[in-house]
Amino acid sequence: MANNRISVHGQWSSRWAFILAATGSAVGLGNIWRFPYETAENGGGAFVVVYLVCIALVGLPILMAETMMGRRGRQSPINTMKALAEEERRGRYWQLLGVLGVAAGFLILTFYSIVAGWTLAYVFRSISGVFARSSVAQTQEMFATLVSDPERMLAWHTIFIAMTVLVVSRGVKSGLEQAVRYLMPVLFLLVLVLAGYSLATPGFSAAMSYLFKPDFSQIDNATVLSALGHAFFTLSLGMGAMMTYGSYLSQHTSIPKASVSIAVIDTGVALLAGIAIFPIVFTYGLQPEEGGPGLIFKILPIAFGQMPYGRGIGFLFFVLLMFAAWTSAISLLEPATAWLVERKGFTRVRAAMYTGLTAWVLGIGSLLSLNLWSNAKLFGMTFFELVEYLSVNVMLPVGGLLVAVFAGWFMSRSSSYDELKLNKYGYMVWKVGTRFVAPAGVILILLQKIFGFLG
Ligand code: PFF
Repeated sequence: MANNRISVHGQWSSRWAFILAATGSAVGLGNIWRFPYETAENGGGAFVVVYLVCIALVGLPILMAETMMGRRGRQSPINTMKALAEEERRGRYWQLLGVLGVAAGFLILTFYSIVAGWTLAYVFRSISGVFARSSVAQTQEMFATLVSDPERMLAWHTIFIAMTVLVVSRGVKSGLEQAVRYLMPVLFLLVLVLAGYSLATPGFSAAMSYLFKPDFSQIDNATVLSALGHAFFTLSLGMGAMMTYGSYLSQHTSIPKASVSIAVIDTGVALLAGIAIFPIVFTYGLQPEEGGPGLIFKILPIAFGQMPYGRGIGFLFFVLLMFAAWTSAISLLEPATAWLVERKGFTRVRAAMYTGLTAWVLGIGSLLSLNLWSNAKLFGMTFFELVEYLSVNVMLPVGGLLVAVFAGWFMSRSSSYDELKLNKYGYMVWKVGTRFVAPAGVILILLQKIFGFLG
């Protein structure tokens, strides 16, 4: 059955524009900030292995499914799900998948913007030269000073949300596309340079064993759930970001090919970031898990303070990381904004202002939980930790599971075959992935977390 819907929001100008934008969404703080710190909190190599398995078996089929559903529906996730459910004669409640996604996007943005704010602060710190020959104690102190100052963080948070609103309000082509075109390749190169630097540090071999020699006794159900959640987070899955980007995709682009490129680039950047960071951790005799969410902000300045041209390289690194965060944040705000335009008939600018303002207000909770409210805990977690846990470890996997179930079980063969344009065998592999492997993986991991049968 052919699909001749047209998106009211416009369309990517080419296949490359989509790959760049989707990669821009996928590659972000998740790869460079979150991957190393989650690896450290979850015991190293065993986490890395489970994460890679989750990307290949769960993430990739869902990435294709989500993009494909977006292109077929050609609207914001809520309306896309409504249209697809009608087309396949399924219940209207499938819209809730879109609603869940929009909610997850807001929640993620609340802490994402705070960390992006740290990145902005570090752009200025690096160029000022404060990292020169600083000791571990000094870089830790520098980070602590930033985090304990709510006013300073509020300023960065406000600037970052304003930057995001600015791009989202300009729309698909002029806003989103231009922002990613040149920056992603340069970021990749810079992480490569950093990894090259770490190669020559004394802690390199210890770091390689830590990252790539898994100690499976370290695995428990919390580790497996974190790896799954992170796989969704890093590929921007389970909340409608890829569905929204898919809705702007031309009918001629091959979704499977684009999805494989996105997953490979995204995983490559994360692994390179790990290779860049952990050798420095070991060289200075630090315990990886001590770093917490501040890991890269405490570790990388040590390297920038020592290496030749470290001031310039550090500056460039944080500028690019900021751009990577920016292009991801855009995709976090886009689904809700597109929905407001469709539903309320708002102009894009107005819609983006409303969604941005909501994210800004919620972000203040995350910001304060790092200092003034650091003792206020629910289930043993601060607001920041709770929002991160809920959105990444619960909402994204559940959203992804529903995408897989809809695409695998409820979409007619003709519609998914039509969109994916795979050969017979490729289609069969994808179908097995979305019907069985991905849902079973997510369900098992969620169940074992709830009932704790892995111990
Ligand atoms: N994938 C982004 C990262 O790795 O930083 C974060 C993200 C963006 C998650 C968009 C979810 C999303 F919808």
